[in-house]
Amino acid sequence: MIKIGTILVSTGSYVPEQCLTNQMLTEMVDTSDEWIVQRTGIRERRIARQQTTAELATAAAKRALEEAELPVQKLDLIIACTATPDSYTPSVSCRVQAELQADRAFAFDVSAACSGFVYATDIVDSYFRAGKAKTALVVCAETLSRIIDYTDRTTCCLFGDGAAATVYQWSETEEGILQTVMGADGSRGDALFAEALPVEDPLEKNHRDHQPERFLKMNGKEVFRFAARTVPEAIDHVLEKAGMRVEEIDWVVPHQANLRIIDVICRRYGLREEQVYVNLDRYGNTSSVSIPLCLDEMRKNGLLQKGQTIIFVGFGGGLTYGAVLMRI
Ligand code: ACO
Repeated sequence: MIKIGTILVSTGSYVPEQCLTNQMLTEMVDTSDEWIVQRTGIRERRIARQQTTAELATAAAKRALEEAELPVQKLDLIIACTATPDSYTPSVSCRVQAELQADRAFAFDVSAACSGFVYATDIVDSYFRAGKAKTALVVCAETLSRIIDYTDRTTCCLFGDGAAATVYQWSETEEGILQTVMGADGSRGDALFAEALPVEDPLEKNHRDHQPERFLKMNGKEVFRFAARTVPEAIDHVLEKAGMRVEEIDWVVPHQANLRIIDVICRRYGLREEQVYVNLDRYGNTSSVSIPLCLDEMRKNGLLQKGQTIIFVGFGGGLTYGAVLMRI
């Protein structure tokens, strides 16, 4: 059988040094380490105090390219995923392209919140299959701390900052990505809401003072219900498209939002604990970054073996969801 497909060549990640522990949060809001661990599984997260989203992205991208041992001029395409860009324009991807001096690559950002990495991977696969690119960098980076209200205990314990990147190549000898599934339900968009900029008269002097508008607002229960429904749907669908059964899957890497959502997935598919990668205890929910951050740790720890099958599944703001099934 002829094999052909989009393969994962390398990964890289970068997280800021500053750690924000549950204990530190108890000094900021009325919460406890016990509540946060029991309800979410999160123990600490990283915070970018001075760095921009593009700086985090560039650091992760450089590590992925180093590991790929590819000259930067090989890159045809750079996609950045972020819900927290530094500016509307230039995009994070263009800032990264400039820093890397990847002159041959075209570059754009994807806005699909926590599903960003899954969406971007599908886009790369589509460009490759259309013959329009052969080497691509996907870089996810978030400075979610900038849109978090650290007086709101219902959201401030959940999120963290960081960046992670993957290099993909088109291969005529390996299978790589087998199937993908993407979905969205814009009618539930308000369940996870962050204003880009307050909609106000720019000629009004005080418009910059209304900072509360800038903070993320979340209906946690609605997002939980959405994830509990769409994540299994996406996994079922991607398996069905590939004609495979869940027993043939070596790894599931879910978006790291909440340990309770991950438990739902494990129970539904009878997955063993060691088949589902989890690092949210150390980083919290890093939105688009969470899946590639897991992949990078898994590769560095020698957990991903050639020939294994892996599903990564994302869900998040939009609301959006999606899954990718790939052979490593
Ligand atoms: N510390 C202590 N108490 C808290 C905290 C906190 N940090 N946060 C909320 N509480 C309180 C609430 O005020 C409430 O008190 P009340 O009963 O007196 O009103 C009580 O705890 C229960 O609050 P719930 O919102 O019902 O708590 P729940 O068990 O639903 O957990 C959570 C909240 C963790 C957000 C949950 O809804 C969840 O996991 N949602 C899934 C969505 C998610 O993970 N979102 C994060 C990112 S979204 C994404 O990535 C797509």
